[in-house]
Amino acid sequence: MAKQRTLAILKPDCVRKGLIGEVIRRIQDAGFTVKAMKMTRLTKATAEGFYAVHRERPFFGELTTFMSSGPCVPILLEKINAVADFRALIGATNPVEADEGSIRKDFADSVGENIVHGSDSEENGIIEASYFFARSELVANES
Ligand code: RTP
Ligand code: MG
Repeated sequence: MAKQRTLAILKPDCVRKGLIGEVIRRIQDAGFTVKAMKMTRLTKATAEGFYAVHRERPFFGELTTFMSSGPCVPILLEKINAVADFRALIGATNPVEADEGSIRKDFADSVGENIVHGSDSEENGIIEASYFFARSELVANES
């Protein structure tokens, strides 16, 4: 299987809890390579665009308010089978249902504030990366 890229975001709760280093350590230990990374803060409008697929869901307002509530750390990751492997590493959306040893199981407080985002497909990962990284920042890191 070929290398894939996926877009991770260390969410505002991860930053507030001082877990940036711990979570990146786990990501790297799991074999992912960091291809691009920054700290930034989403506006409410940008968060609404990023999560537009959920706009009809009851939690949309809460989700986009949370995601714009403080700085976050988007990270473009690369690995063979990156999309599925990253979602396995972070665990289920609700930390109560997440596997033992997963990032959300160990660090997340709730289904809403669950530490980390992971793309659900390679195609969406490319779209999501464009919210955070200029083309030049991605091309410079092509292997
Ligand atoms: P993500 O997109 O952030 O990686 O999370 P996910 O795929 O595991 O879950 P998804 O269904 O895409 O939901 C996106 C985010 O919305 C919040 N959420 N809140 N209160 C709720 O019932 C609820 N459900 C989802 C979570 O922050 C979730 O990660
Ligand atoms: Mg999702």
